[in-house]
Amino acid sequence: MTEVSVTKDAAPAADPLVVLENVNKHFGALHVLQDIDLTIARGEVVVVIGPSGSGKSTLCRTINRLETVDSGTIRIDGRPLPAEGRELARLRADVGMVFQSFNLFAHKTVLENVVLGQVKVRRADKKAAEQKARALLERVGVGNQADKYPAQLSGGQQQRVAIARALAMDPKVMLFDEPTSALDPEMINEVLEVMQQLARDGMTMVCVTHEMGFARSAANRVLFMADGRIVEQASPEEFFTNPKSDRAKDFLSKILHH
Ligand SMILES: Nc1ncnc2c1ncn2[C@@H]1O[C@H](COP(=O)(O)OP(=O)(O)O)[C@@H](O)[C@H]1O
Ligand SMILES: [Mg+2]
Repeated sequence: MTEVSVTKDAAPAADPLVVLENVNKHFGALHVLQDIDLTIARGEVVVVIGPSGSGKSTLCRTINRLETVDSGTIRIDGRPLPAEGRELARLRADVGMVFQSFNLFAHKTVLENVVLGQVKVRRADKKAAEQKARALLERVGVGNQADKYPAQLSGGQQQRVAIARALAMDPKVMLFDEPTSALDPEMINEVLEVMQQLARDGMTMVCVTHEMGFARSAANRVLFMADGRIVEQASPEEFFTNPKSDRAKDFLSKILHH
């Protein structure tokens, strides 16, 4: 098997926002992130793809310190990730994360879900936080659902609320970990459209997704991961038409032909 070593960034990071240097992470004997070097520029949209178990979620989770790393450094906007306390809470607000499962508070209304972090972490005034929440809910197309509880919404609507909740913190970067993979097919597009719009608005985004249409139209760069490594990275056009490594070719043939 011929493996292509990590290529340099497709677009050199003029204004680096997220920088990982020589990051390694183990789960017991499993070396789940191996020598990860990655620089994401402000405003860049990076799509991460790769087989299950390749470390995509772990990569995302290390960037907002839901997982610690064993060695190497991660910096957001020039600052190393804080270890704990208020600084860590602020970091988590700076790095918005949207998961496959929506993780909304079930016993709070949609509006309260979007207000909560603003007041607790950002120390926003309650009235201002509510106004901002309503505007964001409007922006993601669920303005009329504000007073409902999450369970009363469809999966697609809940995921859009989760995006609004992350945006309410004025994040510097948004991480999406397979945000559409738990959704019924007819709801996938409404979530991808919100993500598309965010990308057009200049948000820095890291998106783990196998939605190739989204990758092609929104991503500046595609990272292909396998066995804890970034095996290949290129523009979407280059990656999808001319994958270089056998691992990427094999992976693409599986996801494109079903
Ligand atoms: N908390 C954990 N404890 C032990 N192993 C884990 C844990 N989280 C993930 N793993 C393992 O690490 C590897 C990478 O997982 P993950 O980052 O979730 O991959 P992906 O998102 O690409 O499917 C997998 O083999 C997975 O089983
Ligand atoms: Mg995953």
